[in-house]
Amino acid sequence: MSDSRKAATAARMYDYYLGGVHNFPADREAADAVIERFPFIPGAARANRAFVVNAVRHLSESGIRQFLDIGSGIPTVDNVHSIARRIHPETRVAYVDIDPVAVAESMEILEGDDCALAVRGDVQQPRAVVGHTEVRRLLDFDQPIGVILAAVLHFVPEHRVADDAVTELIGSVAAGSHFVVSHSAAESFRLFTATEDVYQRRTSTPGTVRTRAEVERLFTGLELLDPGVVWAQEWRPGAVTQRVDNPGAGGIWVGVGRKP
Ligand SMILES: C[S@@+](CC[C@H](N)C(=O)[O-])C[C@H]1O[C@@H](n2cnc3c(N)ncnc32)[C@H](O)[C@@H]1O
Repeated sequence: MSDSRKAATAARMYDYYLGGVHNFPADREAADAVIERFPFIPGAARANRAFVVNAVRHLSESGIRQFLDIGSGIPTVDNVHSIARRIHPETRVAYVDIDPVAVAESMEILEGDDCALAVRGDVQQPRAVVGHTEVRRLLDFDQPIGVILAAVLHFVPEHRVADDAVTELIGSVAAGSHFVVSHSAAESFRLFTATEDVYQRRTSTPGTVRTRAEVERLFTGLELLDPGVVWAQEWRPGAVTQRVDNPGAGGIWVGVGRKP
């Protein structure tokens, strides 16, 4: 299928999994095809989002006052700037996504907000992301940044490219910066193969899955915070993240690392 006919997008399919309204028939059809094979997907999307909210709160409480959210998607009710600003009202947030529709919707929501912006960028080109004029204008790279890579690296099929992207980002931020990572688990998506990949057939961002060890490797050069790389529902369960009986069934590995 040519790119122009790949009408669904990962951002809008994710919005549909979360029960949002920012999606079109092509997104719903593609998302339903994924759900048919992996019925736990909507639950995994909710667990992932709850982890992001939980981790952002944790980082804000640890003193982080600026965030770089790459693969930010379509802003939901609990978007990063509103969560963080409940703790530090002056928090600055740069949202980056490859999907122009997600960026346009984010810009609309952020209109008039001088401390948050949305730009188009590709996590596979981290130098361009951190070098983006508007990102540089908003964020101070000499101070710690909360870098969010939530449910985005599973759209980077090549391990080396994903590893290099994270390494480059770690090198670009100050000591004390934190990395929030979530990723589809190979252990849960056992049936996943490239030929079955709905994202490959219907969107321009093919998907992949990684094992726990492969996700742990993404934290190379960082101090991995307790409890390490765990299922989304297991990362510091509390007010936002509810512990469940069989978190592995909802296949998202997550972790938070700190740059020493
Ligand atoms: C599943 S959504 C995750 C949204 C949000 N980060 C969260 O976890 O709630 C994945 C997002 O990654 C974006 N994306 C996919 N490939 C990307 C890339 N190479 N660079 C930047 N964003 C990408 C998609 O457009 C989509 O908005």
